[in-house]
Amino acid sequence: MKRLELFPISTSIENDQLRIAGLNLHSLVEKYGTPLYAYDQDTLDSAAQAYKTALASHYPAPASVTYAGKAFLSLFMAQWTQLHNLTVDCTGEGEIGIAAAAGVARENILVHGVNKSDADLAAAFDHASTIVVDNLSELKRIINVSPAKLPDLWLRLLPGVSVTTHHVHTQTGHHESKFGMTRDEVLQAAKLCKENNLPLKGIHFHQGSNFRDPEPLLPAIEMALDLVKEIGFLGEWHFCPGGGWGVAYHEDELPHPPVEHYVRGIAEAVVDGCKIRNLSLPHLHLEPGRSLVARGGVAVYRVGAIKRRGNKTWLLTDGGMADNPRFALYGAKYACLPVSSPKGERSGVVSIAGPYCESGDIVIEDLPMPNVREGDLIAIPVAGAYHLSMSSNYNGARRPVVLWLNEGAAKVMQKRESVQELLVRDFGL
Ligand SMILES: Cc1ncc(COP(=O)(O)O)c(C=O)c1O
Repeated sequence: MKRLELFPISTSIENDQLRIAGLNLHSLVEKYGTPLYAYDQDTLDSAAQAYKTALASHYPAPASVTYAGKAFLSLFMAQWTQLHNLTVDCTGEGEIGIAAAAGVARENILVHGVNKSDADLAAAFDHASTIVVDNLSELKRIINVSPAKLPDLWLRLLPGVSVTTHHVHTQTGHHESKFGMTRDEVLQAAKLCKENNLPLKGIHFHQGSNFRDPEPLLPAIEMALDLVKEIGFLGEWHFCPGGGWGVAYHEDELPHPPVEHYVRGIAEAVVDGCKIRNLSLPHLHLEPGRSLVARGGVAVYRVGAIKRRGNKTWLLTDGGMADNPRFALYGAKYACLPVSSPKGERSGVVSIAGPYCESGDIVIEDLPMPNVREGDLIAIPVAGAYHLSMSSNYNGARRPVVLWLNEGAAKVMQKRESVQELLVRDFGL
């Protein structure tokens, strides 16, 4: 069954029940309740390995993989990155704090942010080895603070070239984007770095998220290499064409776009581009978030009520936009399966919505599904990226329990939030 290929690689069906990493989802729900998120370590490991293998085969100079923590960062997740010696891209003091608390070493922390606060910069000075400078004002603030130990600086270029993503809100590299610096601004920033003797070591851009054709990266790579030639880096220099490689969320999008295709496209363009310009090969960094962790995650919800309205059959679940706002934000398209009898005949078309007071609190629209009754569990695959990291307490929602599944054992990565914890920031009259 094609839909099953969206699930983690350790997924199986035994006794007509969905299992992940050998664990029955029903039994996990009995113990931990719903909504429940589970990450499968095998799937995460194999995604990290796919990047490393592809880089080793196609890029003949040093290369590193950076996990974009915005996809989902927790102590457990940050510690997992270190099993693979990944760099962790942190946006702001919060993510820096999580990575540092997880024991990620300074050399593996890189800091992004489009409008970094003074507190973000202070945390970066304390914990990071690299700051990716987004704009000239930020650079001037760094110069003013002039900390005793300044991390390496990379400049973020706005290439003005878009990639094809499924929604305009997941594009970042087009010329009207709020991210990064224009070509002229990058040159001004490089000049400021030279004048102030700052450790300018690299160049970065990121064009968008969830694309599956690396072709639009090529003109941006050319533009970045032209800039590098003009700036003239001394010694080892770093180049990062961001992340954004896509994953399949729905069976219509299968197969999952191969990481090898993406890495080879970039590696060849960098090698050829450097050769033509007589540049030394940079330390190449790739910065995936979604393609490392999305497929590893599954969300499990319980269906409460079922309503028939016109042509729609609504399955109303106990999770929705508070743990996964992606449909509300940009119409993300998902699939799902019932936990019991997942291979049952697709007897109807259903839409799935959560319990929150918003009409946009939709998880899936118009999906052919096997029969599901009130009280049944459903599992939504490809739930590992940009769900929990964008989750909220809307309507007083308590953020879900998150499990780590490996070799037949489940560990709690994050417990379910309690009502008491919803009050910790509050003062009464
Ligand atoms: C600077 C930067 N790097 C990497 C990523 C990761 O993107 P993705 O999770 O789509 O790979 C993002 C996502 O927005 C980003 O802004």
